[in-house]
Amino acid sequence: MTDFSARAIANPNIAFIKYWGNRDPDLRIPANGSISMNLAGLHTRTQVTFDPHLQADQLTINGAEVQGPGLQRVHLFLERVRQMADLELHARVVSSNNFPTGAGIASSASAFAALSLASSAAAGLELSTAELSRLARTGSGSAARSVPAGFVEWLAGQDDESSYAVSIAPPEHWDLVDCIAIVSQTHKQTGSTVGHHLAGTSPLQTARVADATLRLERCRQAILECDFATFAEVVELDSNLMHAVMMTSNPALLYWQPATLAVMHAVRAWREQGLPACYTIDAGPNVHVLCLEAHAQEVSRRLAEIYGVHEVLNAGPGGPVHLV
Ligand code: DP6
Repeated sequence: MTDFSARAIANPNIAFIKYWGNRDPDLRIPANGSISMNLAGLHTRTQVTFDPHLQADQLTINGAEVQGPGLQRVHLFLERVRQMADLELHARVVSSNNFPTGAGIASSASAFAALSLASSAAAGLELSTAELSRLARTGSGSAARSVPAGFVEWLAGQDDESSYAVSIAPPEHWDLVDCIAIVSQTHKQTGSTVGHHLAGTSPLQTARVADATLRLERCRQAILECDFATFAEVVELDSNLMHAVMMTSNPALLYWQPATLAVMHAVRAWREQGLPACYTIDAGPNVHVLCLEAHAQEVSRRLAEIYGVHEVLNAGPGGPVHLV
């Protein structure tokens, strides 16, 4: 081992088939598998240094020191890495995102994917992609998917060893673009971790999970065949199913704002008129509108005209987490 320090970069990802609810919340073994695409151009960059002079773990995000639950989550994660590497040193973690925080793009996926690689490398571990994905999963479920490249499937598995993500196609396989319509910059009221705990209180969760294998198959096949029509249908269905669960859990979660619904209606109308696009929405009000590269400019232009849409970000398929 050399200097106990390493730096890594990871993209966030957008799920086409969603992760919502855990079979094992501590290990983050999900109720169902999920499929996503890494988002090129958006990234988290994280440096980890294990330092004998530190009395405790330290965390800085976008130049500001983090304490409380944010630090505790990273501390628990580092405990796992220290145990794997048989290391006792505390760490300094310095992380920054190049996309607006609070823009409603889940930063926990890119954050824990970058942290997994930077911390394990700094601790002298050389993990395989599957091992890295398993480690990232314990920090944030969706982070497991930001480890491999391009179009990714997280195999639900049933325990720590069997639950990790694999690449199903490289970034250059399909020129899909995620046009992200930002309708709110404010932080979400209920975070995903709490939401996963509530999923089981919805009477619809059992039905959503029971049918997930079929949707995963259809989505995987549509990606492999670059079949946008089938893809659009299953992606919107899956997003609607997850939001139906959210809206019917106890307490109920309603993430949509009026502009969210305006974009959903617009996208469906455009598709009927012959502009191939579809929407998917995570645990927040912003809408991810997916289309082919050839239509991205037109879709983004139209999105920007909708009342309540503040900004539109574009991202194509991204690569794997990597050291810098
Ligand atoms: C709606 O991975 O953010 O974006 O494991 O508690 O960190 P934790 O949750 P997280 O959940 C993501 C939920 C989602 C759907 C998805 O990305 O699959």
